[in-house]
Amino acid sequence: MSTIRNQRLKGQLELTWTNKDQRLLSHGEDTYEWTTPDDYRVSEVRLLHDIATVGETHKDAERAKDNLLIRGDALHALTSLKELPEFAAEYRGKVRLAYIDPPFNTGQMFEHYNDAVEHSVWLTQMRDRLTQIHELLADNGSLWLHLDDSEMAYCRVILDEVFGRQNYVGTVVWETDAGRRNDTDISTVQDYILVVAKDKSIWRKQRNLLPRTPEQEKRYRNPDNDPRGPWLQGADSTARSGSDALRYEVALPSGRTVVPPKGVFWRFSRENFDRALAEDRVYFGKDGDGMPIVKRYLSEVQGGVVPRSLWLASEVGSNMTAKRDHLRKMFPDLPAFATPKPEGLLERVIHIATDPGDIVLDCFAGSGTTAAVAHKMGRRWVTSELSATNLADYTRPRLEKVVNNEDPRGITASIGWQGGGGFRVMEVGPSMFEADEDGGILLAEWATNGAFAEAVCAQLGYERLGAESRPFSGRKGRMRLAVVDGVAGDTEVDFLVSHLADGERLTLVAKAATEDAQDRLRTLSPGSRLRTAPRDLLRVRSHGKAAQ
Ligand SMILES: C[S@@+](CC[C@H](N)C(=O)[O-])C[C@H]1O[C@@H](n2cnc3c(N)ncnc32)[C@H](O)[C@@H]1O
Repeated sequence: MSTIRNQRLKGQLELTWTNKDQRLLSHGEDTYEWTTPDDYRVSEVRLLHDIATVGETHKDAERAKDNLLIRGDALHALTSLKELPEFAAEYRGKVRLAYIDPPFNTGQMFEHYNDAVEHSVWLTQMRDRLTQIHELLADNGSLWLHLDDSEMAYCRVILDEVFGRQNYVGTVVWETDAGRRNDTDISTVQDYILVVAKDKSIWRKQRNLLPRTPEQEKRYRNPDNDPRGPWLQGADSTARSGSDALRYEVALPSGRTVVPPKGVFWRFSRENFDRALAEDRVYFGKDGDGMPIVKRYLSEVQGGVVPRSLWLASEVGSNMTAKRDHLRKMFPDLPAFATPKPEGLLERVIHIATDPGDIVLDCFAGSGTTAAVAHKMGRRWVTSELSATNLADYTRPRLEKVVNNEDPRGITASIGWQGGGGFRVMEVGPSMFEADEDGGILLAEWATNGAFAEAVCAQLGYERLGAESRPFSGRKGRMRLAVVDGVAGDTEVDFLVSHLADGERLTLVAKAATEDAQDRLRTLSPGSRLRTAPRDLLRVRSHGKAAQ
């Protein structure tokens, strides 16, 4: 190994791309715009609106505790989960597993296709969503990023940047297709799932092993009727490497003495061997004349097997089985959803990475496989989908069928799923800001009265208060938020300050303020402040919380 001394090392390994330092805004389902990171539209916190509930759900005041199907761009949905206090309390730092299967839209995003731009759009979106997911993950959480050959290598480097190289766990190779295509150079039959942990040292102690298959169990037998039960057969007691200390003589019950052949060593030290003898756990063959085997009992080994990195279609299903055997049968009158993943694949991911009751996130829902499997496995889930059509045609009806026990396929039978539970359908709200023709920013027309107050709470990170707390709309520690849909003057300031309890301060947000309202507020309640919308809200969203 070479040594590097006294050299100043500059830079770090990183992937660069066009506009890496920019952010991307999506408009609708297929139009994008580059902008700077301090553009308020990047960090604006959108409201989540209730659309419907399905099955059993909590009451509205506790809606964040429900399973959530959110219509909207993952960027906004993740920001809302992270920043809206009622959702942040449930999700920030609490998601145990994020499995995402993002699309690669080559040639579809721009009218005039340009690979460098297309690629940059994709990488920028991924980097930004991975960064958001990182904040949502629990310390014992992990991200499983499903990709095909085209982006896997690039994303591995981005994951290092976002999660830290030390938290890379491994890459699962999933056999997507058990067949072969003869019209190409090399017939690709695999996808990749890159697995990273929020903190690998914690994750590895808490992740689950896979259950032993019947074949693996069969390797444990009990030919000598040992009362301690079956033990591992075929275990070889010698190894090809070791030290001379591992080449000692062993006396067999038959009277013969054995030493491993030249270049071969015992797997156990003399001390461990003597201890095993004393515990009567050494097997010398049925005639007492075989090479010694130190028994490993089934009852003592860890409760399962470590997953291998190669997952075959015969074990977890393929793209084709998901389409043909599940979704086509579930939706016979619709064109088959293009890229559903088999439930067996998600079952394995969810089994390894979570325990019952944990939260599973998938911000690229598609046909809803992740949520459907998480639901059947007794996990909580939150999933978002950009396409209103996909959500209406596939995601929502599929999840309704799961709740109503009308989905007999996938893992339903093997797991004994019988229906139940429920979820909430939500929608990412529109922006509270609008640009006029000259580029000036105005409040959107809908931002009036209660809706205005709710949106202000969201931008400033205040917990929303109900009608019983009037005249205040929000709370953050000892700070109260009051929102005036109009001009704030002395009358409003006097009235609001008179409602503050001892030690409380006021943030007053209004659409405009009289000249001396700010001074009056400061005099009556030192530490309180007056802000006008949209100007001061934009400043907060562009420059972070410090500006509040
Ligand atoms: C490859 S599919 C996911 C398939 C899914 N794993 C399944 O088993 O059905 C990707 C999905 O992400 C959705 N999508 C694309 N861009 C999105 C975005 N910015 N936010 C949320 N969803 C998005 C697409 O509409 C598509 O349904």
